[in-house]
Amino acid sequence: WLTFEDDIAAIIELKRQRNAVILAHNYQTPEIFHCVADIVGDSLALARKAIDVEADVIVLAGVHFMAETAKLLNPGKTVLIPDTDAGCSLAESITPEDVALLRRAHPGVPVITYVNTSAAVKAASDICCTSGNAKQVVESLGVQRVLMIPDEYLARNVALETDVEIIAWHGHCEVHERFSVEDIKELRESHPGITVLAHPECPPEVAAAADFSGSTAGLSEFVATNRPPRVVLLTECSMSDNIAVHYPDIEFIRPCNLCPHMKRITLPSIRKALEENRHEVTLDPATAVGARHAIERMLAV
Ligand code: 13P
Ligand code: SF4
Repeated sequence: WLTFEDDIAAIIELKRQRNAVILAHNYQTPEIFHCVADIVGDSLALARKAIDVEADVIVLAGVHFMAETAKLLNPGKTVLIPDTDAGCSLAESITPEDVALLRRAHPGVPVITYVNTSAAVKAASDICCTSGNAKQVVESLGVQRVLMIPDEYLARNVALETDVEIIAWHGHCEVHERFSVEDIKELRESHPGITVLAHPECPPEVAAAADFSGSTAGLSEFVATNRPPRVVLLTECSMSDNIAVHYPDIEFIRPCNLCPHMKRITLPSIRKALEENRHEVTLDPATAVGARHAIERMLAV
């Protein structure tokens, strides 16, 4: 912690000077999550809470699509992402042109877009969803068939919970696609009584073999409510690190996988972002109108 002290003190002072707040995703490392963040949560919570931010500057400690969402909901504020290379394999997997082709192939079928996408893809969609509200969004449309892009596994996991027919795209999260049923089998053998929690970006057979599947906020809530004595979270590594500090009585078992994009955000990069006002998120106005509509429609569900 000594190596972090300097940066933490500097960031706290810079936040005061610049009237800034830091929004941090659950996958940020503990020194960011617990020491400098003002608002933490899953993608849905960060989008919801971004609306109420009164500061002049928002630093998004997370990946690029999250910073774009914060900017969409706060067009008049300065939104900074400390590293522009903090991307996402799901956001990379689809373009607005792909969405246009899908619409042509499935005329009249509404397009539900996971927030893990660029603003341009959101603008080409009807409504957004997150892993925390995907089923509700699907059912809110009152139709028999929807397109759900770009995460194939999230779409297939939601399809198991609803009567609505879901047409999926073939994007995957590079972190969650690596978990396997074999991992779960080995964990149950080596750690008797273990509770297995999985994010819905995991393959459907993995989510089905787990005891519970939910968004990062859902996983956190499951631990808080059920207090399993021994638990594994099949998701990004920092998730367990951040929760574990609250529950010294719970044994958190790894494996986990690191998200290289989330890990690009560090205390020094947050400090630099505030010192040098970088990197400011800007959006093409026409794209922003469509993308904001898709996000706001989701938030109204
Ligand atoms: P949540 O919306 O569950 O926080 O997930 C975001 C994400 O990027 C998961 O990989
Ligand atoms: Fe994207 Fe997966 Fe990283 Fe989440 S964990 S930001 S979905 S690559």
